[in-house]
Amino acid sequence: MTSTFHDRIAAELTDIEAQGLTKPERVIASRQGPVIQVGGRDVLNFCANNYLGLAGDQRIVDAANAASEARGAGTASVRFICGTLDIHKELERSLADYLGFEDSILFAAAFDANGGLFEPLFGAEDAIVSDSLNHASIIDGVRLCKAKRYRFATSDMDDLETQLKAARADGAREIVIATDGAFSMDGYIAKLKDIRALADRYQALIMVDDCHATGFLGPQGKGSYAHHGVEIDFLTGTFGKALGGAMGGFICATAPVVQLLKQRARPYLFSNALAPSICGASLEAIRIARGSEGDTLRTQLFANAARYRSAMTEAGFNLLPGEHPIIPVMLGDARLAQDLAARMLELGVYVIGFSFPVVPRGAARIRTQMSAAHTFEHIDAAVAAFTTAGKELGVI
Ligand SMILES: Cc1ncc(COP(=O)(O)O)c(C=O)c1O
Repeated sequence: MTSTFHDRIAAELTDIEAQGLTKPERVIASRQGPVIQVGGRDVLNFCANNYLGLAGDQRIVDAANAASEARGAGTASVRFICGTLDIHKELERSLADYLGFEDSILFAAAFDANGGLFEPLFGAEDAIVSDSLNHASIIDGVRLCKAKRYRFATSDMDDLETQLKAARADGAREIVIATDGAFSMDGYIAKLKDIRALADRYQALIMVDDCHATGFLGPQGKGSYAHHGVEIDFLTGTFGKALGGAMGGFICATAPVVQLLKQRARPYLFSNALAPSICGASLEAIRIARGSEGDTLRTQLFANAARYRSAMTEAGFNLLPGEHPIIPVMLGDARLAQDLAARMLELGVYVIGFSFPVVPRGAARIRTQMSAAHTFEHIDAAVAAFTTAGKELGVI
């Protein structure tokens, strides 16, 4: 490698640092949970996607260990060669039954599910109409596909209709509306009732990424489409958040769509099968999420979110509105977000500043996230720490 290459990389890193955009990795030395160990001490954790509090749950860990014991560390193979285990089939069935679809297909991550969905199903004759706030993996998945792209301003139904009209006028064979079910940086829930109505009017299909909804939104935690009581065509999701917090992704759809994806989706055909431990953990998480314990956890989760929202608003912080357990504390300036997060850690609360390119420039924030494993005491302690740090740094 040339020295000019190394100089350029070093200059880019210096520039990222100078703009306050460096994303440091803090090392955690415990299980994921409402209280974690960082730097040798216990701190409250308010930024995991651990919605149902299952990531450190002993039953999930036991299920992961039992599956490893029974089927080993992994298959050392992709699914179609010699990598399909009985536990993969069981998980695909369980997931489809839980979420109300004919079938499902597993991926190593939801990033791969979104990357693998579009290209096999749609071609140059088709149109994908995508919400402007969609997750990076949807954007990348759409880029990998030859379909014509249209973008609508986030959750703006007039603009969605304009784009649908344009796609029809351009002679699209199929139109797919692609959206996050809940937007990961803002906690906004997609307007799926309105999207369904427009999809019916313009004969479009609907794809929803429910990474931030599966397990806790809607009846039995089935997700954003169940929350709105509508049907959709393709659902992508993750096991890395509410459903146990390990990793792994999936697509739910009709049986023929899943069959075709198993023949053509590149992240499925060219990547290792999901580890047995993750299958075991995810099956146990689904069992908990769909039952009455899931209802109790969801009630706690939303009570925590409501308590936190109201106390932080009263303290004078600028929160994005909503009901979702993702609750962004808006700060604007990237350096301020970092400084506030650093001071919060000193005060015993682990939160992270989010800045460009994860959120738009000038829209830096601390994205706090509630878990069913938080108690009201945890919530009140976090608000007290925010109030102290916010006053010190002139945020409130
Ligand atoms: C909306 C959304 N989609 C997809 C992903 C990717 O999920 P995974 O971690 O399973 O790749 C994430 C995670 O950050 C997400 O927030």
